[in-house]
Amino acid sequence: MISLSTIIIDDNATQREILSGFLKKIGCHVETSESGEQGIEIIKKTYIDVVITDFRMDGMNGLEVLQKVKEINPEIQVVILTAFGTIEDSVKAIKNGAWDYLSKPVDLDELEIKLKKISEHKTLIKENEILHTQHDNEEFVSDIVYSSDSMQTVLNMVARVSDSQAAILIQGESGTGKEIIAKTIHKMSQRNNQPFIVVNCAAIPEALFESELFGREKGAFTGAHERCKGRFEIADGGTLFLDEVADIPYTFQVKLLRFLQEKEFNRLGSTQIIKSNVRIISATNLDIQQLVAQNKFRSDLYFRLNVIPIHIPALRHRREDIPLLIKHFIAKHSKLNKRKVINISAEGLDMLMRYDYPGNVRELENIIERAVILARSKFITQEDLPLNMSCNPLTVLEGNLIKQVELLETSLINNALKQTQYVQTQAADNLGISERTLRYKIAKYNIKKNSNDV
Ligand SMILES: Nc1ncnc2c1ncn2[C@@H]1O[C@H](COP(=O)(O)OP(=O)(O)OP(=O)(O)O)[C@@H](O)[C@H]1O
Ligand SMILES: [Mg+2]
Repeated sequence: MISLSTIIIDDNATQREILSGFLKKIGCHVETSESGEQGIEIIKKTYIDVVITDFRMDGMNGLEVLQKVKEINPEIQVVILTAFGTIEDSVKAIKNGAWDYLSKPVDLDELEIKLKKISEHKTLIKENEILHTQHDNEEFVSDIVYSSDSMQTVLNMVARVSDSQAAILIQGESGTGKEIIAKTIHKMSQRNNQPFIVVNCAAIPEALFESELFGREKGAFTGAHERCKGRFEIADGGTLFLDEVADIPYTFQVKLLRFLQEKEFNRLGSTQIIKSNVRIISATNLDIQQLVAQNKFRSDLYFRLNVIPIHIPALRHRREDIPLLIKHFIAKHSKLNKRKVINISAEGLDMLMRYDYPGNVRELENIIERAVILARSKFITQEDLPLNMSCNPLTVLEGNLIKQVELLETSLINNALKQTQYVQTQAADNLGISERTLRYKIAKYNIKKNSNDV
């Protein structure tokens, strides 16, 4: 099967019928036209991959059709049909950018081979473009680690909806794993051998939004030297991930809505209609319903994007996941940094279990990465964990104010000593206290040089 969108331009009705019957049989979409002029009008309005045109026709001839088509869209391939023996015509056509020519009467097997080549060529170009845009897909889908019931519910939902075409909106605080879930949905869908394209809506300047997403023609605006495919076109057949979707400029929201309804769009500076079959997954850490209520986000767009809502709970609401995630990240960063860290001390784990993680899983991962690098043995200890974690009131052990202040002081002094390799003068200096006071506190809190420290 060859799924190209084609148009046959020929003034001979029988020829049109034979060719169109054959092309439909091998899986192509077919338009027909009896003249070059009419054909060009159709090409302007329809999505076309290949033009098959007769050479000699009244009015516009095949060569003129070729020229016009290339002006409209140089990526449309043209195959010219020439009468037997007019080899000069064919050479001229190839020189002018035709893909190939076929002598009449047309050998249908030969036509099929040529179309197959065009189709392969198209796929290759698309793949190159994707490789270009998607530089971060090395570690495409890493494993999702969890043990909590709430994440089990999320993953059950993912499995149920991955193969549907419906738009999905993933909500959750920053760092909860929205992107990794989006990738998992793509991976579990039948689109998994097609592109997964990420658009970070917060990172694109408002003025460039339309051209980034829908593409642009050469000269569409000052500075547009090249024609350029947008993300929607590149993602054709695959999944488009609209990250930080709440940041889509209001002016663009209506255009996105139109695309979601019609599944077609046109490049900036062009009236040619382009179709794209993409599955939309969007994500936000903002309260998008509130933005809708404040008229900052169109409600009709919100409903289109939110056909299937998925909510990822904050890490502090699923603390059961913390130990597994720690193990996972220790293994990951130990390997990446060529370290031999294998586990965490009981006190360290205790500290991590109590922390609140405003930055969720991403914050936990950063903490572990740092600790793996700092660790002096196979185990991460409390000293390898950031100081400000113990400053977090929630991580301080229960107790009255005095007890809490003592704990905080102990931790601050410990760190200052470590940072200065136990040179007390310097540690005292860093802490902004006299050396005498420091010595007094070291004795009072019974602070000892950690045996792991050198
Ligand atoms: N359940 C999980 N198992 C393993 N790794 C996870 C899990 N959840 C998140 N991560 C990892 O945590 C980091 C943050 O996840 P991700 O980028 O998907 O979050 P996000 O919600 O998109 O964050 P932001 O709101 O900041 O864009 C990534 O490195 C991701 O691989
Ligand atoms: Mg993200």
